[in-house]
Amino acid sequence: MKFDVRVSLIAVATLLATFLVASAQEKPQEKPQDKPQEQPQGKSQDKPAAAGPIHLQQGWSEATVDRWHFISQGTALIPYEWFVALEQPGQQAGQTALIKAPENLQRLGFLTEPVSATNPDGLAIGLYSTPVDIPDGRHACWKGNWLGLGCAGCHTGQVSYRGQQIRIEGGPAHIDIDAFVGQLVGSITAVLQNQDGAAQRFMARVKAPPADVQSGLQCFGGVLQAAARFNQVVGGNSGDTAGGAGRLDAHGAGLNQLLAGPFRLMTDPADFGETRNYAHLTAPVRYPALWDTPRFSWVLYNASIRQPLTRNIVEALGVLAPIKHDATMITPDVMHGIQMENVVWGQRRLMDLRSPRWPEAILGGLDQKRALRGQLVYLSACANCHEAAPGEAASGSCSEIQIPLVDLRKVGTDPEQATTFNGRRIALSKIGGPDAMSNYKAAEALTGNIAAQWIARSKDNAAGAAEINCGRPNQFRAPLAYRARPLNGIWAMAPYLHNGSVPSLHDLLLPPGQRPKTFYVGNWEFNPDIVGYDMKAQTPGAFLFDTTIRGNSNAGHLYGTDMTEDDRNALIEYLKTL
Ligand code: HEC
Ligand code: HEC
Repeated sequence: MKFDVRVSLIAVATLLATFLVASAQEKPQEKPQDKPQEQPQGKSQDKPAAAGPIHLQQGWSEATVDRWHFISQGTALIPYEWFVALEQPGQQAGQTALIKAPENLQRLGFLTEPVSATNPDGLAIGLYSTPVDIPDGRHACWKGNWLGLGCAGCHTGQVSYRGQQIRIEGGPAHIDIDAFVGQLVGSITAVLQNQDGAAQRFMARVKAPPADVQSGLQCFGGVLQAAARFNQVVGGNSGDTAGGAGRLDAHGAGLNQLLAGPFRLMTDPADFGETRNYAHLTAPVRYPALWDTPRFSWVLYNASIRQPLTRNIVEALGVLAPIKHDATMITPDVMHGIQMENVVWGQRRLMDLRSPRWPEAILGGLDQKRALRGQLVYLSACANCHEAAPGEAASGSCSEIQIPLVDLRKVGTDPEQATTFNGRRIALSKIGGPDAMSNYKAAEALTGNIAAQWIARSKDNAAGAAEINCGRPNQFRAPLAYRARPLNGIWAMAPYLHNGSVPSLHDLLLPPGQRPKTFYVGNWEFNPDIVGYDMKAQTPGAFLFDTTIRGNSNAGHLYGTDMTEDDRNALIEYLKTL
């Protein structure tokens, strides 16, 4: 997650002062004629009569799916009441469509859902409202509800085929976080600068006391300015590789978020945070699929984190869960806003999540004879690294799936995720810690404290942690290697490789020189023949993936690339059955 500001924020403060005076006099919230045109809520899908997306049997009840989609993990991006009132930035004069409008959220890659008890504003999977009361950094600006991004936002996929949508629970999402954050920052800036009356319209829409909104905005303006100053010092986003739709440099961005900019930012304006802890983002990765991961011996593409609880803690902090950025951060008394019970609930449910089976009724029947031939190809070319499909574990059992690792030089795919994870150093001297340590050791220490603090609080907490951790200790490491995951459900995980650089299974089984050099990510329309999305066309919001950019290489993984087209297609037919 980045709150880096690409928009120029110079002069925000003076404009802000003018606006505050002006809007205080006008009391716009009492003028109903200022009410914006609301976007219709809920689904804006093409076919009005469609019954909504199909859910495959993945081991979850309807109630679990619904709760997983909208449960808070405590991450908090901007005040919730503001979010539902913000306009899309950069619209033509007179147009006031909101960011939360379903068409806009869909362009940003979100899967929108109709209004329901768990989704009262008809937003999208993974977006929720969560209360925050931790006075630190941006979170000091608003005591109340915040917009959060949950696990399901990055970990729910879809396959569309001939007008039918199929939800893939735990599958890779398409959301473009940079574009989303860019809209939030652009829109708040428009309010702060009162561009074309944006401030009056905003104030009229926000359902909160105007005085609170105004002081909150002023505070937020300060945060954005501080972020802009920090950005100038560290050289902005130059040198970053855009993640675009469906990808995020989770490790790199999370550490920037947690340990670089926010350090003492608000208490001392002359202090630029810890610039030494900032790193440019060169390793965006495709959101991984979550089925079976609770049993993986190590998770992440580089098999670097062992324990589910501390993994989830570090993720929540990287996605802007509030935490007090001071010396307590590295003590057993951390003050943070992660909703530990919910995180543990989600991880428990993931233990029951099954990979989706190829829906023959929708995507076409499988040719069993061809698949059988493909299985022989698989056994000779793939089975020594990839388990085909691990057997289901008995509920509550702790059987582990040992994940094989392949050295970077051997697998030959883009090295950035593993090398940046391995090489990044962190200074904690501003909060009383060491002046240089490896980033993953810092993460291990911090998350270990947070876990221990929570576990000590009650017997139930301790039992919950034990259940999801299955005896795995809190360990982080940084092998220069990638793991070979089991291939069940692989048909629903395009684009392929850790960095999403190969559009389809068929492309992956071609020599790298014949794989597409550029393609568009963001379309959900599926092509069952090549097993991937239709990435030739530029659909609304689609991101142009360029494999020549740093971090985006589509090289390597030469396994099976020299087989005949017949064998290749037989192998693909087999992979569909997993
Ligand atoms: C902002 C997007 C985002 C959110 C929110 C998010 N994740 Fe992830 N998650 C990722 C990315 C990206 C990776 C891959 C990181 C890597 O390997 O470098 C990942 C990796 C994982 C992995 C390891 C998967 C593997 O293949 O080894 C698990 C398990 C996981 N996430 C679970 C969760 C859970 C549980 C939550 C909520 C508590 C969550 N994630 C929230 C983006 C997200
Ligand atoms: C020597 C070990 C090895 C062999 C043999 C091998 N793979 Fe892989 N495979 C890997 C590794 C390691 C990765 C992760 C590479 C990455 O993400 O950069 C991977 C990734 C993949 C992926 C992408 C997974 C994802 O998350 O997108 C697919 C699909 C795949 N392999 C299929 C196959 C098939 C099919 C074969 C047989 C033709 C095969 N592999 C043979 C090691 C192997």
